[in-house]
Amino acid sequence: MIELEKNVIPVVWVTGATRGIGLAAANAFAAIGCRVVLSGRSRQQLEINAGRIIDQGGFALPIVCDVTSETSVRGAHANIVKKAGEVDVLVNNAGVTVFETFEKSTLKDFDAIVDTNLRGYFLCTKAVLTSMLKRRKGHIINIHSVAARDTFYNSSVYSAAKAGALAMSRCLRHEVRKKGVRVVDVLPGAVETDMWSRSARKKYHQKMMQPEDVADAVVSVYCQPQRMTTDEIVLRPVEGDL
Ligand SMILES: NC(=O)c1ccc[n+]([C@@H]2O[C@H](COP(=O)([O-])OP(=O)(O)OC[C@H]3O[C@@H](n4cnc5c(N)ncnc54)[C@H](OP(=O)(O)O)[C@@H]3O)[C@@H](O)[C@H]2O)c1
Repeated sequence: MIELEKNVIPVVWVTGATRGIGLAAANAFAAIGCRVVLSGRSRQQLEINAGRIIDQGGFALPIVCDVTSETSVRGAHANIVKKAGEVDVLVNNAGVTVFETFEKSTLKDFDAIVDTNLRGYFLCTKAVLTSMLKRRKGHIINIHSVAARDTFYNSSVYSAAKAGALAMSRCLRHEVRKKGVRVVDVLPGAVETDMWSRSARKKYHQKMMQPEDVADAVVSVYCQPQRMTTDEIVLRPVEGDL
């Protein structure tokens, strides 16, 4: 299991922690004793989620942060450092999609998807990286998707954003791996969350992973011995893609 340094409790910042995979990841890191920062756009939901962790004896800090906004990300990061300490683990998770053909995808869809899934990962990583490099330690765990490398209907813009984030992340890992910073790429297949329509969730419920499955995999990678890291993991429902 995790080897927490003596008297050092890791600070874990999870973006998109109002629900779904981000919330499950925040809960999972809290369960192993980390100080968890939950961020997202809905203050009310963040406070509810953080309150549940605190009620169970954990440390949780709800911080409003829109990952598409540089001002919001910088402000959130400053707030986190002040209230919880320097970030040891960043889970870049906040993401959106619109299931649509390329022909029907609008520029508004494109901007929202690229700004959240690619620009957001860039901004949040920028916010934490300098301190991690200075301290020669840190984990940047990026939640991508199998859509970053495989081909799906109605996912051209999402795939482009996820492929861009994956490429960016691979280059970052190459640059920082000898400087104590671990960059981990997680590529999940279908997970039963609000990203899918109610009818899709009902139809495919038996074939989808649950957010906790992804969260457990993320925490187990984090808990690996100091001498090793996992560069990339692909997680799929046992029967494969939907
Ligand atoms: N579900 C799947 O099948 C699946 C598969 C592979 C990968 N993924 C990836 O997993 C990640 C989490 O997705 P999910 O399935 O858990 O979706 P979800 O349940 O819809 O949750 C998305 C999260 O992202 C947050 N978010 C969206 N836009 C944001 C913004 N501009 N700033 C800050 N937070 C924002 C949402 O919070 P607010 O709206 O409250 O701000 C919410 O907490 C995404 O990166 C997604 O691409 C999902």
